[in-house]
Amino acid sequence: MGDYKRIGILTSGGDCAGLNAVIRAVVHRAIGTYSWEVIGIRQATQGLMVDPPQATQLSIEKVDPLLIAGGTVLGTTNKGDPFAFPMPDGTLCDRSAEIIAGYHTLQLDALVGIGGDGSMAILRKLAQQGGLNLVGIPKTIDNDVGITEHSIGFDTAVNTATEALDRLHFTAASHSRVMILEVMGRDAGHIAITAGIAGGADVILIPEIPYTIANVCEKIRERQSQGKNYSLVIVSEAVRTEDGQTISFMKELKQKHWGGIGDYVAEQISLSSGAETRVTVLGHVQRGGTPSPLDRLVASAFGVAAVDLIAEEKYDHIVTWQNRQIVSIPIADAIAQYRSVDPKGTLVKTARGLGIYLGD
Ligand code: F6P
Repeated sequence: MGDYKRIGILTSGGDCAGLNAVIRAVVHRAIGTYSWEVIGIRQATQGLMVDPPQATQLSIEKVDPLLIAGGTVLGTTNKGDPFAFPMPDGTLCDRSAEIIAGYHTLQLDALVGIGGDGSMAILRKLAQQGGLNLVGIPKTIDNDVGITEHSIGFDTAVNTATEALDRLHFTAASHSRVMILEVMGRDAGHIAITAGIAGGADVILIPEIPYTIANVCEKIRERQSQGKNYSLVIVSEAVRTEDGQTISFMKELKQKHWGGIGDYVAEQISLSSGAETRVTVLGHVQRGGTPSPLDRLVASAFGVAAVDLIAEEKYDHIVTWQNRQIVSIPIADAIAQYRSVDPKGTLVKTARGLGIYLGD
């Protein structure tokens, strides 16, 4: 079973459903199969930045009930790049050395980092600088990590968005309205196109494909001429206005947050077509809650495989899902390829084949 190891695990970036299922799988494999020790690090790399590090010993008993729990019991953060960490006095400070020291204080032999492409890039930089033995597990509701077909959290977010569309059909039909559903996806339209097809949307707007309000309204009118008194529009938060403006706001720490394109689209549709519109912004509802069966499955498979990578001492690798199998690849390759919606891909062809307006 290889050498005894003491491994750390942390969740980094925005939370999503399925993170606890990964933690559970890692602990089961590491303790149950290899009789190692697992240390849970709190609040992503911030738990390693303090002395003593904020960490807790994990046991199978502790993590066993976590399969269906949303969020992450370890806590996480999507703020504060450790290489330019915002200090209380407003300055930015490189705190990478403190994080590396925290890893060594905990006497870790390896670290399982669960995160999206941004977190993976930071963790890899830390690993290279400080000799950390890192393996990665991809998670993000945006599903935009290169190469892997599944990232933890995406399926649950799609289920939530699909259910929202299912519900909107009835109220839209009752009031003869055009309902606009704004969904997440920082730079990519995977949630919108997947839930849009699954939930029977009439219009899907994603950042990868330009659109015109005139053609959105044309679709609505076409439906009206067929006796359909309502329409459903799903729009990804990263979609721009017709003239290319982004709708976002900046919070403290210069983090860009999307939000508001649903209102813009609704207003433009009303102005152009006279239709009555209403907007639902799904927001963080897509991130919270019980993971779907697929997210639990992928999380469990990723957790087991990541521990096996450590057993093989195959570091600087990330587990991915490809063609119904786990495949491990160098982290550098995974983060080098951003995965947006392919405008020539199957989902786009499917949506167009169903008569959904998806842009021009
Ligand atoms: O990257 C995941 C994500 O949920 C995006 O879809 C969204 O734009 C962003 O995080 C929201 O981040 P926050 O939790 O900081 O509002």
